[in-house]
Amino acid sequence: MEYRRLGKTPLLTSVIGLGCSRLGASVFEDETVEAESLLHFAIDHGINFFDTADSYSYGNSECLLGKAIRGKRDQVILATKGGFLPSSLARIGQHLVPFIGPFRTVISRNKATLKTFSQKRQNFDVQYLKKALEKSLRRLGTDYIDLYQLHSPPLAILENGLAFRFLEQCQQEGKIRFYGISVNSIEDGLFCLQNPQIAALQVPINLFEQQAVSDLLPHAFPNTGILARVPLARGLLTEKAMIQTGPQVQNRAEISKQQQTLHELCAQEDRRISDVAIQFLLQFTQISSIIVGTKSVNHLHRNILAGQQPALSHELITHITSL
Ligand SMILES: NC(=O)c1ccc[n+]([C@@H]2O[C@H](COP(=O)([O-])OP(=O)(O)OC[C@H]3O[C@@H](n4cnc5c(N)ncnc54)[C@H](OP(=O)(O)O)[C@@H]3O)[C@@H](O)[C@H]2O)c1
Repeated sequence: MEYRRLGKTPLLTSVIGLGCSRLGASVFEDETVEAESLLHFAIDHGINFFDTADSYSYGNSECLLGKAIRGKRDQVILATKGGFLPSSLARIGQHLVPFIGPFRTVISRNKATLKTFSQKRQNFDVQYLKKALEKSLRRLGTDYIDLYQLHSPPLAILENGLAFRFLEQCQQEGKIRFYGISVNSIEDGLFCLQNPQIAALQVPINLFEQQAVSDLLPHAFPNTGILARVPLARGLLTEKAMIQTGPQVQNRAEISKQQQTLHELCAQEDRRISDVAIQFLLQFTQISSIIVGTKSVNHLHRNILAGQQPALSHELITHITSL
């Protein structure tokens, strides 16, 4: 496993990180046992960067991660986030999880419909963040977080700066080592670069979303660490070619065309799409960690191996960049 420095912090993150957004029990799935195996596999295979959030699986993701790193705290870099309130569905769901049993299959069938009724809300008030951070520390079973991130704040929150003062205070108290922002847009990312205290930005970067490569990376390096989220375009850049996380895309026909082209290009070099998507990101040395989300040990293994494959040919890079 290759390790890269996160901006100007002393943290050395594994280039393949693990996105933990789907780990743990929800009203739709309960793959707790699989998640535990996955986390141990990740640690045993050199992954040290884990990205979670208090809102993922109603806090279950943080609990599972906390359990998995017991006795290994100094081997891992924990990144979590605060700012999302539990959605209306999550507020009800978290009480139902222990009792849901066989009804889960029925509920899962209606996942998409239920999610459209569930409003997500955010809160970046200092009082709220203070409580959220304490709860994250408890769930993760640690007394410090390596990277605490604001979870997709609107620009107005970044502009008023109150949350930053709170985060600096937490840093002085030793509750967090560094803080970062998971940004909504390149413009928000560029705004954040004006604040040298922000250690890292988490940005969507993948073969289908390449704007950050030209517009953000050159400005961020070397002071601000870059974490590439949704590197497989939420599942589109895999053999499954399906979105499995977050909202569906509107321009499905255009995406299908690009997927087909990509598939043919990868086949010519006898490579898998997900491997190529990971190798594509690895060439940008400004990216410290590629946060791939998976619930599967096999896929995680595949992603780790993808990081060790020979670099992509110049020809393939030229072709896929033009996508
Ligand atoms: N606002 C924010 O802060 C924000 C938003 C989105 C994401 N994130 C972070 O970024 C992480 C990654 O995002 P994501 O999970 O939505 O998107 P992603 O990493 O681009 O894609 C995940 C999808 O790819 C599949 N996959 C992974 N490896 C594979 C392989 N080798 N072969 C085939 N399929 C594979 C996964 O399915 P399987 O489970 O079946 O492998 C899943 O469906 C999240 O976990 C989270 O930490 C942050």
